[in-house]
Amino acid sequence: MFQKTLSFDDVLLVPQKSEIKSRKEVSLSSSIDKKTFTLPIISSPMDTVTEDEMCKHMAWHGGFGVVHRYNTIEEQAEIVRKATVEGDEEFPAAAAVGVSDDLVPRAEALIEAGAFLLCIDVAHGHHSNVEHALKTLRDKFGSDINIMAGNVATAEAFSDLEDWGADVIRVGVGGGSICSTRIQTGHGIPTLHSVIMCSNIAKNALVVADGGIKNAGDIVKSFAAGADFVMLGSLLAGTEQTPGQVFQNSEGEKYKVYRGMASVEAQLDWRGRTSSLEGVSTTIPYKGPVQDVLSSLKQNIKSGLSYSGARSLKDFRAKSQFIIQTQAGTRESFTHILLK
Ligand code: XMP
Repeated sequence: MFQKTLSFDDVLLVPQKSEIKSRKEVSLSSSIDKKTFTLPIISSPMDTVTEDEMCKHMAWHGGFGVVHRYNTIEEQAEIVRKATVEGDEEFPAAAAVGVSDDLVPRAEALIEAGAFLLCIDVAHGHHSNVEHALKTLRDKFGSDINIMAGNVATAEAFSDLEDWGADVIRVGVGGGSICSTRIQTGHGIPTLHSVIMCSNIAKNALVVADGGIKNAGDIVKSFAAGADFVMLGSLLAGTEQTPGQVFQNSEGEKYKVYRGMASVEAQLDWRGRTSSLEGVSTTIPYKGPVQDVLSSLKQNIKSGLSYSGARSLKDFRAKSQFIIQTQAGTRESFTHILLK
């Protein structure tokens, strides 16, 4: 029998009685170990999203960035070093590692550079390679370091990664805006559905909803579904703080590149050959400073919680009520005057 699954656009949250008079009364705080983040948004470890500038701005706004791993150990460690300290100011930055032979030397260099969290960053996280990597990092660094791992799509996978030592787990397979995993491999689960399944069985590990988040409403739905954090690629792509040049076309329109890490373009750049293409590369309009994007997301997410009468993420999870909408409901939910 086939199991029915739900995507972000299949559901809505029921508005509930609220006594919240200002968005200031709403807290979005979420913690990893002893570190508290006032905006539980993480920028994705992709080479067109997160390097030192993005990490710095994410931290200033209450979230954090994960520096991508598509460079040499020295280059990545240098980015982390620049990101974690500016003048007298110190801020949290995380960094990605793979599961290949350079795992331990890369992890050592990143910790030495100041990363507060390492992210074992592979497409199919429910894998013996990830089990090995998690156990290797735990044996080597004990509980001194926070470890994020993923990506996973099922409760069984989430529970295995928890048992193998992950503190934070990226949930979502094939849902990203630049992903072609579901087309090329036939595998995946809608991100919202995976988040609901994983958060229901989570013991200690935190849930990060990752892939397919298109707007503040999807972030709000992720938190209602049990996510502790969300990870963003496309929503942050195209901003001033992403790596890469701003291009201008003949009409004067500005744009930047955003690409999946398994796209032809990304693979050729970082390893000089391609295998298993599961992503695409594209250009998106230049969005200006990332603080504008983050400030607007923060306001909208806080409004989202207040529609359920909730003052904190914990309160929100307990109170929020999902409903499933029909296709006509989904059409009505999008701004539709322009379709006339
Ligand atoms: P959004 O929707 O925020 O998704 O742009 C970002 C997430 O997509 C994942 N990612 C990929 N998935 N092929 C994939 O199937 C790729 O080439 C690829 N690159 C990134 C990743 O989880 C990221 O956070």
